[in-house]
Amino acid sequence: MCYNFRVVKVLGIETSCDETAAAVVADGRTILSSKIASQVDIHARYGGVVPEVASRQHLLAIIPVIEQALDEAGADLGDLDGVAVTHGPGLAGSLLVGVNAAKSVALGAGLPLVGVNHLEGHIYANWLADVDITFPVMCLIVSGGHSDLVLMRGHGDYVLVGSTRDDAAGEAFDKAARILGLGYPGGPAIERAATVAPSLELPRSWLNGSYDFSFSGVKTALMRLVVGGGVSDANDAAASFQAAVIEVLAAKAVATAKEYGVRNVLLAGGVAANKALRRALADTSPVPVLVPPPVLCTDNAAMIAAAGYYRFQAGRTANLALDVVPNLKLV
Ligand code: KG4
Ligand code: ZN
Repeated sequence: MCYNFRVVKVLGIETSCDETAAAVVADGRTILSSKIASQVDIHARYGGVVPEVASRQHLLAIIPVIEQALDEAGADLGDLDGVAVTHGPGLAGSLLVGVNAAKSVALGAGLPLVGVNHLEGHIYANWLADVDITFPVMCLIVSGGHSDLVLMRGHGDYVLVGSTRDDAAGEAFDKAARILGLGYPGGPAIERAATVAPSLELPRSWLNGSYDFSFSGVKTALMRLVVGGGVSDANDAAASFQAAVIEVLAAKAVATAKEYGVRNVLLAGGVAANKALRRALADTSPVPVLVPPPVLCTDNAAMIAAAGYYRFQAGRTANLALDVVPNLKLV
């Protein structure tokens, strides 16, 4: 990899769940292309991601998506400086498709390879917006599989401050939407339905003395209300559920930001697309809150290329033995 005064172009590949994505990013910050083949319509009929179906769809889509990303960036393989790929956490069969594609491209084009943690990718989506980020930062990562508070002291330097003890925030949104019959994926459906002031009393799980989260209780409380006939307005139920989840997420993120004296709060992951969460954090945080544009909050490969760029810079390259790690941890 060359770090002279020329642009460093990294091809990012992401297949950890149900989006087949490839992107070319310059210097870890400028998106030259970002292509996503979404399987959401295929999985929607089952109400959730079917792993076997996902990996087959990735196989069909991966080569065309990489070709489109290169085309749109006006780049061929010879213009690239490295390949970054998500190798966990995620669905094993889905991850394998991306990792094997990345290895093939790296081997064929003689490029260095780097494995990226999907959650690290979500954090680095923030570097793709034209903003200044000052370390240390507190990252609130809220996706379909994770709800983590991570103190980031520098590039690649993470300390886990809190995480969910049961359902992830996105998973809770998805389950609540199913309970309310609002469809899949649940987060956007709940947000769209939450058009009225919330009036239902749902519990907040504060887990006092800890920065961990727990969202299964609020989901069960919603279920009990629905089964017991206590919900007459789905919009109110959606708004009440959204408010209960967001209040805890925002309060804990703000508390950790104060305790650790960070300079910025970074929001990351699919649930970061939620406008009410963005507002709640921006209104209460003692330091500027940075949020990627919605399209970069949900799964994409530009964030993987961005994270990969900083890994390349730190010399943390992989070799062709790179394996998928479905339960890969960030710290
Ligand atoms: O980060 P992501 O695209 O995939 C994972 O890594 O899991 O996150 C997907 C999750 C889903 O649970 C989805 O319901 C949730 O993010 N989500 C939202 C919104 N958009 C996506 N949750 C709340 N509000 C949204 N607007
Ligand atoms: Zn994700």
